[in-house]
Amino acid sequence: MSTVSTVPAIELNDANTIPQLGFGVFQIEPSETARAVATALDVGYRHIDTAQMYGNERGVGEAIRALGLPRGEVFVTSKLNNGFHRPDDARRAFDRTLEALGFDYVDLFLIHWPLPTLYDGDFVSTWHVLEELAAEGRARSIGVSNFQVAHLERLAADCDVVPAVNQVELHPYFANRDVHAYCDAHAIAVEAWAPIAQGKVLDDPVIGEIAQKVGRTPAQVVLRWHLQHGRIVFPKSVTPARVAENYAIFDFALDADAMARIDALDRGEAGRNGPNPDTFDYIPR
Ligand SMILES: NC(=O)c1ccc[n+]([C@@H]2O[C@H](COP(=O)([O-])OP(=O)(O)OC[C@H]3O[C@@H](n4cnc5c(N)ncnc54)[C@H](OP(=O)(O)O)[C@@H]3O)[C@@H](O)[C@H]2O)c1
Repeated sequence: MSTVSTVPAIELNDANTIPQLGFGVFQIEPSETARAVATALDVGYRHIDTAQMYGNERGVGEAIRALGLPRGEVFVTSKLNNGFHRPDDARRAFDRTLEALGFDYVDLFLIHWPLPTLYDGDFVSTWHVLEELAAEGRARSIGVSNFQVAHLERLAADCDVVPAVNQVELHPYFANRDVHAYCDAHAIAVEAWAPIAQGKVLDDPVIGEIAQKVGRTPAQVVLRWHLQHGRIVFPKSVTPARVAENYAIFDFALDADAMARIDALDRGEAGRNGPNPDTFDYIPR
């Protein structure tokens, strides 16, 4: 079975491609994940973003297999959990990811957080493990998440492979400008997590006004704003109508004025909702 997808593909710096719109499964219960992913695949999504930390990789693999989709038709990302940065732990954890998904490769594997205050500040040896996984073909592309400019500079100084992506918090209230600029300048694709700020930007009057003008919902306007900036997004929803709504963003465009008005909503560091990667040191137990 194959579907015609309207989702553009973004070429990564390793020449692999990634669908610009995907489906995120953070905070979806493991027991609910296969159903939620099946809904997304039915709508047409072909890119799923999971992580060891979410505890729901198994449901992602199950849903893809249940639909009978060839493995190559769905782009799957997972991420290394925070307790496994030491090289041997990282290799074992990666093996468990493949086992849970039931696949022999992932399309993209990320270091979930840099954890600069743990592991003697060493994420470089962790990155070397990801370089090995890429060389083995078991992670088709490799990247990082929540890396600040200083962390990216450190990888650039000490490693051979430039991350294909950096997945960071980014939405109208937090444009994460320095990190975005560094990534743009070094051919690292930007993935925006919490693209609608977990719903917090949807009541914004500026976004509401633009939504009314273009005849779309606030979520569609914000997701469209990301796409027109060239970012990769994967909104999460367990509500089927929203899953479909978030996918219907390829048949309208925002004009330069609307783009600029949303850009102007940036609150800088005050707009960050999630943890600061410079200090975040959470190890799930
Ligand atoms: N790398 C990282 O550290 C990191 C951190 C956070 C997230 N992520 C990734 O990014 C993905 C997306 O981020 P996120 O899940 O935190 O937040 P998000 O996608 O910005 O927002 C999800 C929330 O918005 C609601 N929602 C979704 N579509 C909506 C719509 N059309 N209208 C109104 N409400 C809507 C959802 O509610 P319902 O589900 O109840 O419908 C849910 O409460 C995650 O799933 C995960 O894959 C990565």
